[in-house]
Amino acid sequence: MVVMIKVIVAGFKGRMGKTTVQMVNENQDFELAAVYDPRATESNLNEINEYQALDVPVYSELQQIKSAGLDVWVDFTSPASVFANVKFALEQRISPVIGTTGLTDEQVGELQRLAKEKKVGGLIAPNFGISAVLLMQFAQQAAKYLPDVEIIEMHHNNKLDAPSGTALNTAKMIAKVRKEKVQGNPDEKETLPGARGADYQGMKIHSVRLPGYVAHEQVLFGGLGEALTIRQDSFDRISFMSGVAVAISKIKNYDELFVGLEHIL
Ligand SMILES: NC(=O)c1ccc[n+]([C@@H]2O[C@H](COP(=O)([O-])OP(=O)(O)OC[C@H]3O[C@@H](n4cnc5c(N)ncnc54)[C@H](O)[C@@H]3O)[C@@H](O)[C@H]2O)c1
Repeated sequence: MVVMIKVIVAGFKGRMGKTTVQMVNENQDFELAAVYDPRATESNLNEINEYQALDVPVYSELQQIKSAGLDVWVDFTSPASVFANVKFALEQRISPVIGTTGLTDEQVGELQRLAKEKKVGGLIAPNFGISAVLLMQFAQQAAKYLPDVEIIEMHHNNKLDAPSGTALNTAKMIAKVRKEKVQGNPDEKETLPGARGADYQGMKIHSVRLPGYVAHEQVLFGGLGEALTIRQDSFDRISFMSGVAVAISKIKNYDELFVGLEHIL
């Protein structure tokens, strides 16, 4: 008998959560074992029209969650709640697969220590899309030769955190291969505050928020008499789901918490 991976989806009422519920439900290796969202008023998914055929417990409070038997915790919630959620999952020995962005480096460090202590595998992926993972890798490669770089990320106007997790991760990956440097004119002045964007070790990051966009990023490199632009576009949330599915399938095989989908591909 094939043992299915029992998955809880946190943030199931949100945009990414809904797409994840559909993916988990359609995947024959996964069992949708529970869902969680403070916005939920139901106690079972079958009370919701579109999920009538599903008999799945719904939780609206963290402490209510019956963790016994749950294998993987998929989290697409909010920057304010993700830390407590992942901590809870690790303490219950449920493997976290985290798409929610906005965790600080200190929080990630604390969660990584907890995962090691509990010997639980987990993944925090700022981006589950393969085009974004490749963009980060290509950008890191290009920065070895073209160290002057600016990042523009574009998202829908409901996004809570800025810059995006992917943009920040891109900057961190680039920072590993180039010396910290101040870009632009050392005497430049912003006549409108914020005009030059956010700064990560001398790299400027610009965040665009507009209706119609999903998730997009451009990394611009400038050299002497030349320029290189690397761009990726996530047009539909479905593009993140193959990465989430790979993570759910594999994460129980590890005993530490990784940051970045590339570590488990
Ligand atoms: N890693 C990726 O590939 C990827 C892709 C897209 C979005 N994201 C990130 O995923 C997160 C969610 O994005 P979204 O567009 O679905 O947001 P959303 O606002 O549509 O949904 C978030 C949901 O989380 C719920 N929520 C809030 N607090 C919660 C808690 N404590 N526990 C459980 N649920 C809780 C909200 O009620 C809401 O239903 C954001 O951080 C976003 O940046 C990541």
